[in-house]
Amino acid sequence: MYDRYNRKINYLRVSVTDKCNLRCYYCMPEEGVKLLHYKDILSYEEIAGVVRYGVEQGIDKVRLTGGEPLVKREITRLVAMLASIPGVKDLSMTTNALLLPDYAEDLVKAGLQRVNVSLDTLDPEKYSQITRGGNLNRALEGIEAARKAGLNPIKLNAVMHQYFDEEDRGALQNFAASYGYPLRFIREMDLEKGTFSKVEGGSGGDCRRCNRLRLTPNGKLKPCLFSDLAYDVRELGIEEAYRLALETKPRSGSSNTSCTFYRMGG
Ligand code: 5AD
Ligand code: SF4
Repeated sequence: MYDRYNRKINYLRVSVTDKCNLRCYYCMPEEGVKLLHYKDILSYEEIAGVVRYGVEQGIDKVRLTGGEPLVKREITRLVAMLASIPGVKDLSMTTNALLLPDYAEDLVKAGLQRVNVSLDTLDPEKYSQITRGGNLNRALEGIEAARKAGLNPIKLNAVMHQYFDEEDRGALQNFAASYGYPLRFIREMDLEKGTFSKVEGGSGGDCRRCNRLRLTPNGKLKPCLFSDLAYDVRELGIEEAYRLALETKPRSGSSNTSCTFYRMGG
């Protein structure tokens, strides 16, 4: 599937929930967020339908994001459903790792190949502050569980937020190097202001090479993170939503005033 600018689209990011078990200060407002209504959230069967059609059109890479995908009930069931779609060559998840001790083995059995873990610091106190109460040890246990379960590669993503410093950078570099985990530092983005940049060592943020579409938990197919464009797969039907997303995918991002990171997973 190609868009108007002849970019090959083969990557679908699926946000399965707007809920998260952390409250990272740059992602979520302190008072919490207004969650989507249960009835608006796509079922796993509906998500699989969107992925299946996408795969027929050339999608071969699928990532589950959130919020935090592991807080979603029976997420391994969705993983198994997506893994069984012939043509899904690369199935991954972005997670904060907290629940990986419980899920890593089952995720691998279900067909998950790899994970990206969001980790901004190795200082327990600071981790707790950034995430507003998160336990660093649990995140590290999650990463260890992922390694033992055979998820590979385990990529680490650190957001260079306002309080990110050289100590965080150095400690993460040492940790990542000692296990051979690829590590990326991501500039903090502002959806509304439209500040984004190329992710070093990753494929995000480079509009000319953008190969992705996004599906939100409530079934909007979005051609671009930094745009308000969104096509409802329930209202329009899956095929028409894809057609419109492809046809209107902007040459480059501008700003997004109608959605948030915890709904789109970055
Ligand atoms: N800028 C950049 N990345 C962000 N994320 C959340 N908020 C932002 C932001 N403002 C990232 C998280 C995680 C993913 C869900 O989105 O660090 O990797
Ligand atoms: Fe949760 Fe990730 Fe947002 Fe942190 S950045 S609150 S872990 S979704």
